[in-house]
Amino acid sequence: MHSTSPLSRFLAGVVFSALVSGQAAIPDTVHGAATDLLDASHILHFLDIVDALGHVSVRNPVNSSQFLMSFAIAPALTTSTSVVTQVSSVYAVQNATAINLAFSPDATVPTGFSERFIHSEIYKKFPEVNAVVHAHTEAILPFANQARVPLVAQMSTAPSVGTHAPIFDFSSLPASVLAGDTLSDFLVRNALLGDALANEFINGGDVVLMANHGMAVRATSVRQAVFSAFYVMQNAKVQFQSILLGGGKAPAALSAQQITDSVTTATTSLSPRAWNLWTKQVDLNPLYTNDLRNAAPASATGF
Ligand SMILES: *[C@@H]1O[C@H](CO)[C@@H](O)[C@H](O)[C@H]1NC(C)=O
Ligand SMILES: *[C@@H]1O[C@H](CO)[C@@H](O)[C@H](O)[C@H]1NC(C)=O
Repeated sequence: MHSTSPLSRFLAGVVFSALVSGQAAIPDTVHGAATDLLDASHILHFLDIVDALGHVSVRNPVNSSQFLMSFAIAPALTTSTSVVTQVSSVYAVQNATAINLAFSPDATVPTGFSERFIHSEIYKKFPEVNAVVHAHTEAILPFANQARVPLVAQMSTAPSVGTHAPIFDFSSLPASVLAGDTLSDFLVRNALLGDALANEFINGGDVVLMANHGMAVRATSVRQAVFSAFYVMQNAKVQFQSILLGGGKAPAALSAQQITDSVTTATTSLSPRAWNLWTKQVDLNPLYTNDLRNAAPASATGF
């Protein structure tokens, strides 16, 4: 290994690129995060967690006030040209403003997802969170649409559910959050609604169910976010069947200690193994294009 640190190599690259082109090189860490973001978008579709709708984002590794996500496009179809840099928490009026297209900084940014406030408000509230998934996964909706039977962690691979998944219910929001002139279409389309959703992450779990709509999943990395979202979905299917099989009797849930220990196992060994398989699966499917994985870091402004 060379003795130069990643930071000094990055700074040298910035200075060099700035001299040559007037633009900064995209740091390796940002290139890596964007590569994972494309993989995550494709894997979420491949695993049926999202369909044409839904989205995933990752916090900018070199600036925690920004995050990367695509503009409004089906996750399966994202490529490097879809990745937008967004502001998460620097403005007094936090509005998840698009800064630029990360890999084509001079082009005009197309319309963003109206629900990017789910992402900006979760990043704002939880500094340790580096990735967010929003999906309308069918299997979780029966648990989102009623509060009588909570979604609980049932599988050792699904500790991200926590002791029970809280429900964000659009229908019972106060007027201070859902103003009279805001569309009541379940979309989290402003910072107030995003903040109210983020507030539901209260019991240590990493998923909040959204009544009549879907779920939001937070994680410390984009790879972990995909793993958690997948097993939240699987857990919902298993719990639904356990209830039927048990004649309505509440199925066994993981204890708080079992959840803590299972989180450790999932993050250290299970999730990396799954990611390795899933990236190979999307690579072999011509629907998905990750044009960043083997590409040299591009130049861009804004980093
Ligand atoms: C981080 O991002 C914010 C929002 O775009 C920007 O105002 C700030 O200057 C950035 N910080 C650095 C060190 O580039
Ligand atoms: C977002 O906030 C910034 C800073 O307050 C402002 O300049 C910009 O116009 C706002 N954008 C929208 C779409 O509200």
